[in-house]
Amino acid sequence: MSTYPEPPQKEHPSTYFVQNRDNQDELTRVTVQDHMITASMGGVLPEQPDPAIFRRVLDVGCGTGGWIIEAARQYPEMLLIGIDVSKRMIDYAREQAEAAQVSDRVEFHAMDALRILEFPDEFFDLVNMRCGGSFMRTWDWPKLLDEMLRITRSGGIIRDTEPEILHYDTSPALMQFWEMFQCAMFRSGHLFAEDTTGIIAHLPGLLTRHGCEQVQTRDHALEHHAGTEGGEAYYTTMMHGIRTLRPFLDKWGCVNCDYDAMYQQALTEMRQDTFHSTWNLRTAWGIRP
Ligand SMILES: C[S@@+](CC[C@H](N)C(=O)[O-])C[C@H]1O[C@@H](n2cnc3c(N)ncnc32)[C@H](O)[C@@H]1O
Repeated sequence: MSTYPEPPQKEHPSTYFVQNRDNQDELTRVTVQDHMITASMGGVLPEQPDPAIFRRVLDVGCGTGGWIIEAARQYPEMLLIGIDVSKRMIDYAREQAEAAQVSDRVEFHAMDALRILEFPDEFFDLVNMRCGGSFMRTWDWPKLLDEMLRITRSGGIIRDTEPEILHYDTSPALMQFWEMFQCAMFRSGHLFAEDTTGIIAHLPGLLTRHGCEQVQTRDHALEHHAGTEGGEAYYTTMMHGIRTLRPFLDKWGCVNCDYDAMYQQALTEMRQDTFHSTWNLRTAWGIRP
């Protein structure tokens, strides 16, 4: 595969909702959440009728590389590139690809998706993103979508999966956390409306307006119950997530309670036998004309 040089610039302040990108909590949260989402959605490309037709694939904001590595395992003909602004994530993703013995078909590069995507025109068959709303402000979408279209071949696919902002948890403390999170996501410019569907309701329109054709969507409901493997994964992501997101909620003036008490209460409530969570995600995809 061709290689692309690492950008020389140092990491700069990020629009991502986690500012400290060297944070171990964040690495653990993204790792567990990645497995949780892929498993619950039924794989990396569950709605695509024949994923093997995609030979060159890019994943934007690839995090720990979990989506890419799973795609490489499932589709032996695919060549995949992941980009992420965090050097720490990229280093970790490379190690994971080595361990999974797919590094001959997988590359990872530190790259800021809000700048230029440093790839030739019409290079990829599929350009994918998942949870990019975590760093995209509403005004960032036009440029990134233009770039995604530029580097996708005619007839190729642009695909994005984003979550609802609120999760529906039986824990009142967690619901209090989600309301604060929605407040911060809106005030920081990540949501098109101060609403739980402030990103996903707008995805199909964004893809269509920026030139994708035959835009389609598929919704997924991720269910997690206490006492199951999925429930344990959810507990882990929330235990790390509530800690990691605190500076973001503080920065946007959205903390409206004793945060430490809310955190402890949420951990207790997630351990109750009756605890249950539903998290809705939407995948939208379209064809590059
Ligand atoms: C919520 S995580 C999702 C990771 C992965 N897509 C997944 O679904 O498991 C968002 C990722 O976007 C990365 N990120 C944040 N700002 C970015 C930017 N400007 N360009 C590229 N990646 C960025 C973060 O470092 C983080 O790894």
